[in-house]
Amino acid sequence: MSNPSLSIVIPTYNERENISKIVTRLKKTLKGINHEIIFVDDNSPDGTSDEIKLFIKNTSRINLIHRIGRRGLSGAVIEGIYAAKAELVGVMDCDLQHDESKLIDMLKLFSKSSSLDLVIGSRFTADGEISDNAFSKIREIGSRIITVIIKKILSINSTDPLSGFFMVRKESFMKCSDNLQTQGFKILADFLSISGKTIKIKEVGYKFNNRILGESKMSFVTILELFSLVISQILKGKVSIRFILFCIVGLSGIFVQLLVTGLVLMLINEFPTSQTFGIFAAMTSNYFLNNYITFQERRLKSLDLYRGLLSFYLICSLGAFANIAIASYVFSLTSNWLFSSFLGAIFGAVWNFTLSSIFTWKSK
Ligand code: GDD
Ligand code: MN
Repeated sequence: MSNPSLSIVIPTYNERENISKIVTRLKKTLKGINHEIIFVDDNSPDGTSDEIKLFIKNTSRINLIHRIGRRGLSGAVIEGIYAAKAELVGVMDCDLQHDESKLIDMLKLFSKSSSLDLVIGSRFTADGEISDNAFSKIREIGSRIITVIIKKILSINSTDPLSGFFMVRKESFMKCSDNLQTQGFKILADFLSISGKTIKIKEVGYKFNNRILGESKMSFVTILELFSLVISQILKGKVSIRFILFCIVGLSGIFVQLLVTGLVLMLINEFPTSQTFGIFAAMTSNYFLNNYITFQERRLKSLDLYRGLLSFYLICSLGAFANIAIASYVFSLTSNWLFSSFLGAIFGAVWNFTLSSIFTWKSK
């Protein structure tokens, strides 16, 4: 096959039933266009990759990137775009919620303008819409509100920065690819906030359809990841999504500690023991929350879960000593308790994060 003029990147996680449907639809829509399809699958337990392989046998147009020990929509899309052979890359979901016929409209816009960098499939233009049953009412309202807030905070000039449906000139994407974050669900928002002001963007309205087969992977964790992405962008990308999630969990630990210390104090009326209970409760809840949220793709299970807890206790205890040592030293220099205590806390957080990333939740 000669070099394709269009690459379609499709991230998949547990989409087995949708593969044949999307392949058929794309074949029909893209008839006459020299294209390739790149599925990026994170080792879905439902055997999505086996299903994709059935189609690979019959055509050289279909490719699979099979990722092991990794999870994440943003990272999957980035890898797909890296692997794309064509100059133009369309990104879309596998679940048929995105209207593939709009790929042709996107292509036309690119053929009319050689300076165009990105076309966004939008649910919020005059001719875009969300199908009645595509989202629960609560998710639809939430999605609209979050879109408005994100556009404002990140000064993004698009009606649908949270869209997962777009076509981009590979070269324009690659220019900022080093600064994109692989964790999270919203690669377009990340890309737009980094390069939105310097690139030329157009939009195509489409109807966001119902998901018929399989389930959405959006969850409370993906919402927290989006929140962390916004904070990360406010801090000019200097702090990673993962570290922000770790700090959010840390903040929740303060409440756990106060609550448990207070409760135990009511029972036994002895402060040091109550405080010790409070600290252990906070470390324990921090550990389980980090395992669930911050390190979701490296989540520890069964025996590893308890081994991990012990290493986390050890790391956090050393972190507490380091925190006290730094704070006391800075206090001896500045006599400012607030500043000293704050620096100690930051140091403790960085310590706990760094060491637990290396030892507790080591990547495979
Ligand atoms: N490789 C990989 N890894 N793919 C993933 C992962 C992952 O961890 N999580 C989700 N996907 C794939 C799904 O299989 C699907 O093809 C696509 O990414 C979108 O996931 P959905 O679970 O269907 O997301 P949604 O419908 O709730 O949200 C969609 O709509 C939003 C609003 O337009 C997504 O398209 C979002 O990207 C989009 O912003
Ligand atoms: Mn979907």
